[in-house]
Amino acid sequence: MKLGVFDSGVGGASIALALTRSFPSAQIDSINDHKNVPYGDKSDSQVFLLTHTAIQPFLDGTYDVIILACNTATAVTIDQLRNQYPSQKFIGIEPMIKTASHLTKSNTIGVCATPATLSSRRYAKLVQTYGQHLDIIEPDCSQWAYLIENNQINRAHIESTIRSLCDRGADVIVLGCTHYHWIKELIAEIADNRAVIIEPSEAISRRVRQLIAV
Ligand code: DGL
Repeated sequence: MKLGVFDSGVGGASIALALTRSFPSAQIDSINDHKNVPYGDKSDSQVFLLTHTAIQPFLDGTYDVIILACNTATAVTIDQLRNQYPSQKFIGIEPMIKTASHLTKSNTIGVCATPATLSSRRYAKLVQTYGQHLDIIEPDCSQWAYLIENNQINRAHIESTIRSLCDRGADVIVLGCTHYHWIKELIAEIADNRAVIIEPSEAISRRVRQLIAV
């Protein structure tokens, strides 16, 4: 099995790591676009162009599945990519609103994601489908991907955001950007059991299994 994993930056490595654990004998190739990261503050047309250009090596027909390990690229490009490459299988990553809606007891959740993801039509549809009854808090995380990419994030950058989510009653915090997977433990430590932190690494492996029946 051959999988291609794409992200704008280091977020993809968290997904590639989970896939390597699930499929130790698979060939897992990763591409990131370190020179253009972050994508989260770019326009839809820029995100499409950058993503489409970056994943060209995966589009030679030899990859069983291309995984867009990036909420932002998924939100903006996956529909168009599926239309343009109908015989290629793609898996995308989206904020886990549905799972959060099942887990929350307070009906208040926090969604940490990039501005491009939060303003996308796909995200609006997710909220409409699974989150209409929820109070969804979307804090400003617009600097996080850049800081994580450049290894500059620290507790001070995220503490007030996470505290404020918990203080406002969020009992589930959705990590809607794969870069944030790298600070999941720090977020959990700050939340201090007041909220569960969810992200989709394991769900992606399950989806790969379903798609190619391994
Ligand atoms: N890791 C990406 C995501 O999941 C985006 C980070 C960025 O490039 O802004 O949304």
